[in-house]
Amino acid sequence: METFVSLCKRRGFVFQSSEIYGGIGGFWDYGPLGVEMKNNIKRSWWRYMVQERDDVVGIETSIIMNPRVWEASGHVGTFADPMVDCKNCKHRFRTDDLRLNDNGELRCPDCGGELTESRMFNLMFQTYVGPVADDASVAYLRPETAQGMFVNFENVLTTMRRKLPFGIAQIGRSFRNEITPGNFIFRDREFEQMEMEYFVLPGADEEAHDMWIEARMRWWTDVLGVRKENLQIREHAKDELSHYSKRTVDIEYDFPFGGFSEIEGIANRTDFDLQAHTKVSGKKLEYYDQESDTHIVPYVIEPAMGIDRCFLTTMIDSYVEEEVRGEKRTVLRLSPQIAPVKVAILPLSRNEQLVPPARKVADMLRPHFMTQYDDAQAIGRRYRRQDEIGTPYCVTIDFDTLEDEAVTIRERDEMTQVRVPIANLAETLREKLPGCYTG
Ligand code: GAP
Repeated sequence: METFVSLCKRRGFVFQSSEIYGGIGGFWDYGPLGVEMKNNIKRSWWRYMVQERDDVVGIETSIIMNPRVWEASGHVGTFADPMVDCKNCKHRFRTDDLRLNDNGELRCPDCGGELTESRMFNLMFQTYVGPVADDASVAYLRPETAQGMFVNFENVLTTMRRKLPFGIAQIGRSFRNEITPGNFIFRDREFEQMEMEYFVLPGADEEAHDMWIEARMRWWTDVLGVRKENLQIREHAKDELSHYSKRTVDIEYDFPFGGFSEIEGIANRTDFDLQAHTKVSGKKLEYYDQESDTHIVPYVIEPAMGIDRCFLTTMIDSYVEEEVRGEKRTVLRLSPQIAPVKVAILPLSRNEQLVPPARKVADMLRPHFMTQYDDAQAIGRRYRRQDEIGTPYCVTIDFDTLEDEAVTIRERDEMTQVRVPIANLAETLREKLPGCYTG
Protein backbone atom coordinates (compact mmCIF):
# COMPACT_ATOMS: atom_id res chain seq x y z
CA MET A 1 0.00 0.00 0.00
CA GLU A 2 2.83 2.40 0.91
CA THR A 3 4.51 2.07 -2.52
CA PHE A 4 1.18 2.53 -4.16
CA VAL A 5 0.15 5.61 -2.11
CA SER A 6 3.53 7.14 -2.88
CA LEU A 7 3.01 6.50 -6.63
CA CYS A 8 -0.38 8.24 -6.40
CA LYS A 9 1.28 11.32 -4.95
CA ARG A 10 4.50 11.30 -7.03
CA ARG A 11 2.63 10.99 -10.31
CA GLY A 12 -0.11 13.52 -9.56
CA PHE A 13 -3.07 11.24 -8.93
CA VAL A 14 -4.01 11.99 -5.30
CA PHE A 15 -2.76 14.56 -2.78
CA GLN A 16 -3.62 15.04 0.86
CA SER A 17 -6.16 17.87 1.19
CA SER A 18 -4.63 21.13 2.52
CA GLU A 19 -1.28 19.35 2.72
CA ILE A 20 0.79 22.46 3.49
CA TYR A 21 -1.25 22.84 6.71
CA GLY A 22 -0.73 19.22 7.74
CA GLY A 23 -3.80 17.88 5.93
CA ILE A 24 -7.24 17.12 7.33
CA GLY A 25 -8.38 13.57 8.10
CA GLY A 26 -10.71 11.98 5.57
CA PHE A 27 -10.34 14.62 2.83
CA TRP A 28 -8.31 14.21 -0.37
CA ASP A 29 -7.50 16.20 -3.51
CA TYR A 30 -7.22 14.66 -6.96
CA GLY A 31 -4.26 15.88 -9.02
CA PRO A 32 -4.08 16.40 -12.80
CA LEU A 33 -3.96 12.67 -13.62
CA GLY A 34 -6.36 11.73 -10.83
CA VAL A 35 -9.08 14.07 -12.04
CA GLU A 36 -8.77 12.74 -15.60
CA MET A 37 -9.14 9.19 -14.37
CA LYS A 38 -12.02 10.04 -12.06
CA ASN A 39 -13.85 11.81 -14.89
CA ASN A 40 -13.27 8.74 -17.09
CA ILE A 41 -14.80 6.47 -14.42
CA LYS A 42 -17.84 8.75 -14.17
CA ARG A 43 -18.20 8.88 -17.94
CA SER A 44 -18.00 5.10 -18.19
CA TRP A 45 -20.67 4.60 -15.48
CA TRP A 46 -22.95 7.26 -16.98
CA ARG A 47 -22.68 5.73 -20.43
CA TYR A 48 -23.40 2.22 -19.10
CA MET A 49 -26.16 3.16 -16.67
CA VAL A 50 -27.91 6.01 -18.51
CA GLN A 51 -26.95 6.61 -22.13
CA GLU A 52 -26.84 3.01 -23.33
CA ARG A 53 -30.24 2.21 -21.76
CA ASP A 54 -33.71 3.43 -22.63
CA ASP A 55 -35.13 2.86 -19.12
CA VAL A 56 -32.83 5.14 -17.06
CA VAL A 57 -32.55 8.94 -17.01
CA GLY A 58 -30.07 11.19 -15.21
CA ILE A 59 -30.55 13.98 -12.71
CA GLU A 60 -28.40 16.31 -10.61
CA THR A 61 -29.76 17.49 -7.29
CA SER A 62 -28.48 19.87 -4.62
CA ILE A 63 -26.20 18.77 -1.80
CA ILE A 64 -28.15 20.67 0.85
CA MET A 65 -31.82 19.78 0.89
CA ASN A 66 -34.77 20.63 3.11
CA PRO A 67 -33.81 19.02 6.46
CA ARG A 68 -37.17 17.25 6.61
CA VAL A 69 -35.85 15.02 3.79
CA TRP A 70 -33.41 13.51 6.30
CA GLU A 71 -36.08 13.13 8.97
CA ALA A 72 -38.26 11.23 6.51
CA SER A 73 -35.41 9.07 5.21
CA GLY A 74 -34.49 8.01 8.74
CA HIS A 75 -31.01 9.54 8.64
CA VAL A 76 -31.62 12.04 11.47
CA GLY A 77 -32.83 9.20 13.70
CA THR A 78 -30.66 6.26 12.70
CA PHE A 79 -27.64 7.21 10.56
CA ALA A 80 -25.18 6.68 13.38
CA ASP A 81 -22.24 4.48 14.33
CA PRO A 82 -21.35 3.38 17.88
CA MET A 83 -18.27 5.20 19.17
CA VAL A 84 -15.91 5.04 22.16
CA ASP A 85 -13.05 7.27 23.36
CA CYS A 86 -9.88 6.21 25.14
CA LYS A 87 -9.77 7.91 28.55
CA ASN A 88 -5.97 7.89 28.44
CA CYS A 89 -4.76 8.82 24.91
CA LYS A 90 -8.12 10.35 23.85
CA HIS A 91 -8.14 8.43 20.55
CA ARG A 92 -11.60 7.70 19.18
CA PHE A 93 -12.79 4.38 17.67
CA ARG A 94 -15.84 2.80 16.11
CA THR A 95 -16.97 0.29 18.71
CA ASP A 96 -17.61 -2.35 16.05
CA ASP A 97 -13.97 -2.11 14.88
CA LEU A 98 -12.65 -3.16 18.33
CA ARG A 99 -11.81 -6.70 19.42
CA LEU A 100 -11.64 -8.17 22.94
CA ASN A 101 -8.07 -8.53 24.27
CA ASP A 102 -6.66 -11.78 25.72
CA ASN A 103 -8.32 -11.01 29.06
CA GLY A 104 -11.69 -10.69 27.37
CA GLU A 105 -11.80 -6.89 27.84
CA LEU A 106 -12.35 -4.05 25.39
CA ARG A 107 -9.33 -1.74 25.75
CA CYS A 108 -7.78 0.99 23.62
CA PRO A 109 -5.93 -0.71 20.71
CA ASP A 110 -3.34 2.11 20.69
CA CYS A 111 -2.31 2.41 24.38
CA GLY A 112 -4.32 -0.27 26.22
CA GLY A 113 -6.17 2.46 28.16
CA GLU A 114 -9.69 2.30 29.53
CA LEU A 115 -12.52 3.17 27.13
CA THR A 116 -15.64 5.29 27.68
CA GLU A 117 -19.13 3.79 27.40
CA SER A 118 -20.16 3.24 23.78
CA ARG A 119 -22.50 5.93 22.45
CA MET A 120 -24.15 6.58 19.10
CA PHE A 121 -22.66 9.26 16.87
CA ASN A 122 -24.68 10.66 13.94
CA LEU A 123 -22.54 10.77 10.80
CA MET A 124 -24.29 13.68 9.11
CA PHE A 125 -22.41 16.99 8.80
CA GLN A 126 -24.58 19.78 10.13
CA THR A 127 -24.58 23.39 8.96
CA TYR A 128 -26.88 26.45 9.04
CA VAL A 129 -28.69 28.03 6.12
CA GLY A 130 -28.91 31.83 6.21
CA PRO A 131 -27.38 34.41 8.55
CA VAL A 132 -28.78 33.10 11.85
CA ALA A 133 -27.28 29.96 13.40
CA ASP A 134 -30.23 28.57 15.37
CA ASP A 135 -32.33 25.38 15.48
CA ALA A 136 -34.65 26.67 12.74
CA SER A 137 -31.79 27.09 10.24
CA VAL A 138 -30.11 23.68 10.75
CA ALA A 139 -29.40 21.81 7.52
CA TYR A 140 -27.25 18.84 6.54
CA LEU A 141 -24.71 18.02 3.87
CA ARG A 142 -26.25 14.99 2.18
CA PRO A 143 -24.83 11.62 3.32
CA GLU A 144 -26.07 9.90 0.12
CA THR A 145 -27.27 11.13 -3.28
CA ALA A 146 -30.24 8.72 -3.28
CA GLN A 147 -32.74 11.02 -1.55
CA GLY A 148 -32.42 13.53 -4.42
CA MET A 149 -33.90 10.87 -6.71
CA PHE A 150 -36.75 9.93 -4.34
CA VAL A 151 -37.95 13.49 -3.76
CA ASN A 152 -37.89 14.10 -7.54
CA PHE A 153 -39.74 10.89 -8.37
CA GLU A 154 -42.92 12.71 -9.36
CA ASN A 155 -41.07 15.42 -11.34
CA VAL A 156 -39.20 12.88 -13.45
CA LEU A 157 -42.19 10.57 -13.86
CA THR A 158 -44.38 13.31 -15.29
CA THR A 159 -41.85 15.40 -17.26
CA MET A 160 -40.25 12.37 -18.91
CA ARG A 161 -43.57 10.46 -19.28
CA ARG A 162 -42.09 7.27 -17.84
CA LYS A 163 -43.61 3.83 -17.41
CA LEU A 164 -42.41 1.26 -14.87
CA PRO A 165 -39.80 -0.07 -14.71
CA PHE A 166 -37.54 2.98 -14.97
CA GLY A 167 -34.53 4.37 -13.16
CA ILE A 168 -33.14 7.73 -12.07
CA ALA A 169 -29.36 8.03 -11.81
CA GLN A 170 -27.11 10.62 -10.24
CA ILE A 171 -23.41 11.29 -9.70
CA GLY A 172 -22.43 13.66 -6.92
CA ARG A 173 -20.67 14.41 -3.67
CA SER A 174 -21.74 12.98 -0.35
CA PHE A 175 -20.46 13.73 3.14
CA ARG A 176 -20.18 11.55 6.23
CA ASN A 177 -18.43 12.53 9.41
CA GLU A 178 -16.81 9.07 9.66
CA ILE A 179 -15.42 8.27 13.12
CA THR A 180 -12.37 6.54 11.67
CA PRO A 181 -11.68 7.56 8.07
CA GLY A 182 -8.72 5.72 6.60
CA ASN A 183 -7.07 3.24 4.30
CA PHE A 184 -6.11 6.08 1.97
CA ILE A 185 -9.20 7.05 -0.09
CA PHE A 186 -11.25 4.00 0.96
CA ARG A 187 -13.18 5.66 3.80
CA ASP A 188 -13.46 9.44 3.43
CA ARG A 189 -15.52 12.19 4.99
CA GLU A 190 -16.15 13.80 1.58
CA PHE A 191 -16.55 11.43 -1.36
CA GLU A 192 -18.43 10.99 -4.60
CA GLN A 193 -21.21 8.52 -5.23
CA MET A 194 -22.83 7.12 -8.34
CA GLU A 195 -26.29 5.82 -7.50
CA MET A 196 -29.32 4.71 -9.43
CA GLU A 197 -32.85 4.16 -8.12
CA TYR A 198 -34.73 1.66 -10.30
CA PHE A 199 -38.51 1.81 -9.74
CA VAL A 200 -40.48 -1.39 -10.37
CA LEU A 201 -43.92 -2.82 -9.70
CA PRO A 202 -44.05 -4.53 -6.29
CA GLY A 203 -43.61 -8.22 -7.05
CA ALA A 204 -41.16 -7.50 -9.89
CA ASP A 205 -38.52 -6.35 -7.39
CA GLU A 206 -36.72 -9.63 -6.74
CA GLU A 207 -36.13 -10.37 -10.42
CA ALA A 208 -34.98 -6.77 -11.04
CA HIS A 209 -32.61 -7.07 -8.10
CA ASP A 210 -30.94 -10.17 -9.59
CA MET A 211 -30.77 -8.47 -12.99
CA TRP A 212 -28.93 -5.47 -11.50
CA ILE A 213 -26.52 -7.60 -9.47
CA GLU A 214 -25.47 -9.29 -12.69
CA ALA A 215 -25.34 -6.03 -14.69
CA ARG A 216 -23.21 -4.29 -12.07
CA MET A 217 -20.73 -7.19 -11.84
CA ARG A 218 -20.43 -7.06 -15.63
CA TRP A 219 -19.49 -3.37 -15.47
CA TRP A 220 -16.71 -4.05 -12.96
CA THR A 221 -15.27 -6.99 -14.89
CA ASP A 222 -16.00 -6.38 -18.57
CA VAL A 223 -15.95 -2.58 -18.76
CA LEU A 224 -13.42 -1.64 -16.06
CA GLY A 225 -11.45 -4.87 -16.46
CA VAL A 226 -11.19 -5.62 -12.72
CA ARG A 227 -10.01 -9.23 -12.28
CA LYS A 228 -12.89 -11.61 -11.41
CA GLU A 229 -10.82 -13.52 -8.84
CA ASN A 230 -10.43 -10.31 -6.80
CA LEU A 231 -14.19 -9.67 -6.63
CA GLN A 232 -16.91 -11.40 -4.65
CA ILE A 233 -20.60 -10.96 -4.01
CA ARG A 234 -21.65 -10.98 -0.36
CA GLU A 235 -25.21 -11.29 0.83
CA HIS A 236 -26.07 -9.15 3.89
CA ALA A 237 -27.21 -11.13 6.92
CA LYS A 238 -30.69 -10.18 8.18
CA ASP A 239 -29.28 -8.38 11.25
CA GLU A 240 -26.97 -6.13 9.20
CA LEU A 241 -29.57 -4.90 6.69
CA SER A 242 -30.13 -1.11 6.63
CA HIS A 243 -33.43 0.13 8.04
CA TYR A 244 -34.87 0.45 4.50
CA SER A 245 -33.67 -2.82 3.00
CA LYS A 246 -35.38 -6.15 2.27
CA ARG A 247 -32.23 -7.64 0.75
CA THR A 248 -28.77 -6.16 0.09
CA VAL A 249 -25.83 -7.61 -1.76
CA ASP A 250 -22.37 -6.06 -1.66
CA ILE A 251 -19.79 -6.31 -4.40
CA GLU A 252 -16.49 -6.63 -2.55
CA TYR A 253 -12.87 -6.29 -3.63
CA ASP A 254 -9.95 -8.10 -2.05
CA PHE A 255 -7.90 -5.10 -0.84
CA PRO A 256 -4.32 -5.45 0.43
CA PHE A 257 -5.58 -3.95 3.71
CA GLY A 258 -8.33 -5.92 5.46
CA GLY A 259 -9.20 -8.30 2.59
CA PHE A 260 -12.61 -8.33 0.93
CA SER A 261 -14.40 -4.99 1.53
CA GLU A 262 -17.45 -3.28 0.04
CA ILE A 263 -17.06 -1.29 -3.17
CA GLU A 264 -20.73 -1.25 -4.19
CA GLY A 265 -24.03 -2.10 -2.52
CA ILE A 266 -27.10 -3.28 -4.43
CA ALA A 267 -30.16 -2.97 -2.22
CA ASN A 268 -33.85 -3.74 -2.49
CA ARG A 269 -35.16 -0.61 -0.71
CA THR A 270 -38.78 -1.72 -1.15
CA ASP A 271 -41.25 1.22 -1.06
CA PHE A 272 -39.68 2.51 2.17
CA ASP A 273 -38.44 5.88 0.86
CA LEU A 274 -41.43 6.82 -1.30
CA GLN A 275 -43.79 5.89 1.56
CA ALA A 276 -41.70 7.82 4.10
CA HIS A 277 -41.61 10.99 1.96
CA THR A 278 -45.34 10.71 1.27
CA LYS A 279 -46.00 10.54 4.99
CA VAL A 280 -43.75 13.46 5.99
CA SER A 281 -44.36 15.80 3.01
CA GLY A 282 -48.05 15.01 2.57
CA LYS A 283 -47.44 14.65 -1.20
CA LYS A 284 -48.39 11.31 -2.74
CA LEU A 285 -45.50 9.66 -4.57
CA GLU A 286 -47.36 7.08 -6.62
CA TYR A 287 -47.55 5.55 -10.05
CA TYR A 288 -50.82 5.07 -11.93
CA ASP A 289 -50.83 1.58 -13.41
CA GLN A 290 -53.18 1.61 -16.40
CA GLU A 291 -53.36 -2.16 -16.65
CA SER A 292 -54.75 -2.67 -13.14
CA ASP A 293 -56.31 0.83 -12.94
CA THR A 294 -54.69 1.37 -9.53
CA HIS A 295 -52.27 3.78 -7.91
CA ILE A 296 -49.15 1.96 -6.80
CA VAL A 297 -46.12 2.89 -4.69
CA PRO A 298 -43.23 1.32 -6.62
CA TYR A 299 -40.45 -0.76 -5.09
CA VAL A 300 -36.86 0.36 -5.63
CA ILE A 301 -33.67 -1.47 -6.52
CA GLU A 302 -30.58 0.63 -5.85
CA PRO A 303 -27.05 -0.01 -7.14
CA ALA A 304 -24.90 2.46 -5.12
CA MET A 305 -21.17 2.91 -5.38
CA GLY A 306 -18.40 5.32 -4.46
CA ILE A 307 -16.07 6.71 -7.12
CA ASP A 308 -13.15 7.04 -4.72
CA ARG A 309 -13.34 3.32 -3.85
CA CYS A 310 -13.67 2.51 -7.53
CA PHE A 311 -10.59 4.63 -8.24
CA LEU A 312 -8.65 2.77 -5.52
CA THR A 313 -9.88 -0.61 -6.78
CA THR A 314 -8.92 -0.07 -10.40
CA MET A 315 -5.54 1.40 -9.48
CA ILE A 316 -4.65 -1.48 -7.11
CA ASP A 317 -6.03 -4.15 -9.43
CA SER A 318 -4.01 -2.89 -12.39
CA TYR A 319 -0.75 -2.27 -10.49
CA VAL A 320 2.00 -4.65 -11.63
CA GLU A 321 5.72 -4.74 -10.94
CA GLU A 322 7.69 -6.87 -13.39
CA GLU A 323 11.21 -7.38 -14.69
CA VAL A 324 12.02 -6.47 -18.27
CA ARG A 325 15.55 -7.17 -19.53
CA GLY A 326 16.92 -7.10 -15.99
CA GLU A 327 15.17 -3.85 -15.06
CA LYS A 328 12.17 -3.31 -12.83
CA ARG A 329 9.10 -1.93 -14.60
CA THR A 330 5.96 -0.68 -12.86
CA VAL A 331 2.85 -0.78 -15.02
CA LEU A 332 -0.72 0.25 -14.40
CA ARG A 333 -2.60 -2.14 -16.69
CA LEU A 334 -5.64 0.16 -16.61
CA SER A 335 -8.52 -0.32 -18.98
CA PRO A 336 -7.84 2.26 -21.76
CA GLN A 337 -11.28 3.78 -21.12
CA ILE A 338 -10.24 4.98 -17.68
CA ALA A 339 -6.50 5.57 -18.23
CA PRO A 340 -5.84 9.30 -17.66
CA VAL A 341 -3.60 9.69 -20.73
CA LYS A 342 -4.44 7.70 -23.86
CA VAL A 343 -1.45 8.53 -26.06
CA ALA A 344 2.04 9.84 -25.28
CA ILE A 345 4.08 11.50 -28.03
CA LEU A 346 7.78 10.87 -27.59
CA PRO A 347 10.46 12.16 -29.99
CA LEU A 348 13.50 9.88 -29.85
CA SER A 349 15.50 12.81 -28.44
CA ARG A 350 15.37 16.60 -28.20
CA ASN A 351 17.18 16.85 -31.54
CA GLU A 352 16.06 20.02 -33.31
CA GLN A 353 14.95 18.03 -36.37
CA LEU A 354 12.71 15.70 -34.34
CA VAL A 355 10.93 18.14 -32.01
CA PRO A 356 8.86 20.05 -34.63
CA PRO A 357 7.34 16.96 -36.32
CA ALA A 358 6.71 15.39 -32.88
CA ARG A 359 4.89 18.52 -31.70
CA LYS A 360 2.91 18.49 -34.94
CA VAL A 361 1.81 14.88 -34.30
CA ALA A 362 0.80 15.82 -30.72
CA ASP A 363 -1.23 18.80 -32.00
CA MET A 364 -2.90 16.54 -34.55
CA LEU A 365 -3.95 13.94 -31.95
CA ARG A 366 -4.91 16.29 -29.10
CA PRO A 367 -8.46 17.03 -30.35
CA HIS A 368 -9.12 13.27 -30.52
CA PHE A 369 -7.44 11.80 -27.41
CA MET A 370 -6.05 12.92 -24.06
CA THR A 371 -2.45 13.30 -25.21
CA GLN A 372 0.82 14.00 -23.41
CA TYR A 373 4.00 15.26 -25.05
CA ASP A 374 7.27 14.30 -23.35
CA ASP A 375 10.83 14.85 -24.58
CA ALA A 376 12.71 14.94 -21.24
CA GLN A 377 15.36 12.24 -20.58
CA ALA A 378 16.17 8.97 -22.39
CA ILE A 379 13.39 7.26 -24.36
CA GLY A 380 13.48 4.15 -22.12
CA ARG A 381 12.80 6.24 -19.02
CA ARG A 382 9.96 8.01 -20.78
CA TYR A 383 8.34 4.65 -21.68
CA ARG A 384 8.63 3.66 -17.99
CA ARG A 385 7.03 6.95 -16.92
CA GLN A 386 4.07 6.34 -19.22
CA ASP A 387 3.78 2.67 -18.12
CA GLU A 388 3.61 3.84 -14.52
CA ILE A 389 0.59 6.06 -15.22
CA GLY A 390 -1.13 3.44 -17.42
CA THR A 391 -0.86 5.15 -20.84
CA PRO A 392 -1.99 2.48 -23.34
CA TYR A 393 0.00 3.75 -26.33
CA CYS A 394 3.24 5.68 -26.93
CA VAL A 395 4.01 7.16 -30.35
CA THR A 396 7.71 7.57 -31.14
CA ILE A 397 9.11 9.96 -33.72
CA ASP A 398 12.61 9.03 -34.91
CA PHE A 399 15.00 9.96 -37.71
CA ASP A 400 13.28 7.56 -40.14
CA THR A 401 10.12 9.65 -39.64
CA LEU A 402 11.85 12.50 -41.47
CA GLU A 403 12.21 10.21 -44.51
CA ASP A 404 9.13 7.95 -44.47
CA GLU A 405 6.53 10.15 -42.69
CA ALA A 406 5.74 7.21 -40.39
CA VAL A 407 5.90 6.72 -36.60
CA THR A 408 6.12 3.79 -34.19
CA ILE A 409 3.20 2.91 -31.94
CA ARG A 410 4.29 1.03 -28.82
CA GLU A 411 1.70 -0.87 -26.78
CA ARG A 412 1.88 -0.73 -22.96
CA ASP A 413 1.28 -4.33 -21.81
CA GLU A 414 3.10 -6.48 -24.39
CA MET A 415 5.45 -3.65 -25.44
CA THR A 416 4.91 -4.63 -29.10
CA GLN A 417 5.68 -2.00 -31.73
CA VAL A 418 4.12 -1.27 -35.14
CA ARG A 419 5.09 1.30 -37.75
CA VAL A 420 2.23 3.46 -39.05
CA PRO A 421 2.12 6.34 -41.58
CA ILE A 422 1.34 9.65 -39.84
CA ALA A 423 -1.55 10.08 -42.29
CA ASN A 424 -3.23 6.95 -40.79
CA LEU A 425 -2.22 7.52 -37.17
CA ALA A 426 -5.43 9.05 -35.77
CA GLU A 427 -7.56 6.40 -37.49
CA THR A 428 -5.33 3.54 -36.29
CA LEU A 429 -5.47 4.81 -32.70
CA ARG A 430 -9.23 5.24 -32.94
CA GLU A 431 -9.50 1.53 -33.77
CA LYS A 432 -7.17 0.60 -30.91
CA LEU A 433 -8.90 2.88 -28.38
CA PRO A 434 -12.66 2.47 -28.71
CA GLY A 435 -14.65 4.66 -26.34
CA CYS A 436 -11.59 6.78 -25.51
CA TYR A 437 -12.14 9.83 -27.69
CA THR A 438 -12.07 13.32 -26.28
CA GLY A 439 -14.72 14.79 -28.54
N1 GAP B 1 -27.69 5.10 -0.92
C1 GAP B 1 -27.14 3.94 -0.32
C2 GAP B 1 -25.81 4.18 0.22
O1 GAP B 1 -25.32 5.29 0.29
P1 GAP B 1 -23.76 2.92 1.24
O2 GAP B 1 -23.43 1.44 1.24
O3 GAP B 1 -23.72 3.63 2.52
O4 GAP B 1 -25.18 3.01 0.55
C3 GAP B 1 -22.72 3.23 -1.13
O5 GAP B 1 -22.80 3.65 0.22
C4 GAP B 1 -21.27 3.27 -1.60
O6 GAP B 1 -20.70 4.55 -1.35
C5 GAP B 1 -20.35 2.27 -0.89
O7 GAP B 1 -20.40 1.00 -1.50
C6 GAP B 1 -19.00 2.92 -1.08
O8 GAP B 1 -18.46 2.60 -2.35
C7 GAP B 1 -19.32 4.41 -1.05
N2 GAP B 1 -19.05 4.97 0.29
C8 GAP B 1 -19.84 4.94 1.37
N3 GAP B 1 -19.26 5.57 2.41
C9 GAP B 1 -18.05 5.99 1.97
C10 GAP B 1 -16.96 6.70 2.57
N4 GAP B 1 -17.01 7.13 3.82
N5 GAP B 1 -15.87 6.96 1.81
C11 GAP B 1 -15.82 6.56 0.52
N6 GAP B 1 -16.81 5.90 -0.09
C12 GAP B 1 -17.91 5.61 0.61
